[in-house]
Amino acid sequence: MSEKSYAGPIIAAYDLRKEYQTPGGLIQVLKGANMIVEPGQMNFIIGRSGSGKSTLLHLLGGLDLPSSGKILFEGEDVSGLSEKRRARLRNQRVGFVFQSYHLLPELTLYENVVLPSMILGKKNDAWCKEILGRVQLTSRQNHYPSELSGGEQQRAAIARALVNHPSVVLCDEPTGNLDEETAESVISLIFELNRQHGQAFVMVTHDEALAWRGEKVYRLVDGILLREERGPIRVENLQ
Ligand SMILES: Nc1ncnc2c1ncn2[C@@H]1O[C@H](COP(=O)(O)OP(=O)(O)O)[C@@H](O)[C@H]1O
Ligand SMILES: [Mg+2]
Repeated sequence: MSEKSYAGPIIAAYDLRKEYQTPGGLIQVLKGANMIVEPGQMNFIIGRSGSGKSTLLHLLGGLDLPSSGKILFEGEDVSGLSEKRRARLRNQRVGFVFQSYHLLPELTLYENVVLPSMILGKKNDAWCKEILGRVQLTSRQNHYPSELSGGEQQRAAIARALVNHPSVVLCDEPTGNLDEETAESVISLIFELNRQHGQAFVMVTHDEALAWRGEKVYRLVDGILLREERGPIRVENLQ
């Protein structure tokens, strides 16, 4: 399917369940999650540590498959894809940003950012340089991750996530390792990219105030995903 001609939601997830068989017994992490990600939307997932946020994000991006339920990615059923096609979908249409950056230490920033486009066979030097500029890392592009601060490494990871023009970027606590000021600069960058490119994001965070800056907020409680509505009695709305 050509993603350019598809006009529906980017992700439609229905009744997602995920269980793990462990030596201590069966763990039910997700007990029926439904979620729709529309183009250009800023979505947040909040919930306690261990509530299944990372598990859900991995399912949404095709990194893992649900025990049951259905995920349509741009109308295509992810469960029906071979491992190879799922890997291609991830590389081509999903950007991932993790708490601990996951840059390859032996590659420069430029090489880290360009790599996903080379894997796709669509290396685009001009675009790589442009996104490195947008995340304000042009002067550091030939440096190695170990030579950079946490905030700079996360900005590079965001650039890498965008290199293949994904339909959606999935961020798992992207500011969890950063101090408050650096975290705000990374968050501002993400909102700016959302505004400039209409790029959709799904972001997991512990930060409730941050989540309410988005358009849709979900909360995971005991394996149930609840859609939170912006209400008049929220404390931040009273201030
Ligand atoms: N591969 C796995 N095998 C067994 N249990 C797992 C596995 N991955 C996650 N879990 C369990 O699922 C629960 C949710 O984990 P996770 O999605 O990482 O939560 P969160 O991101 O909200 O902190 C935790 O209890 C965790 O121990
Ligand atoms: Mg997590």
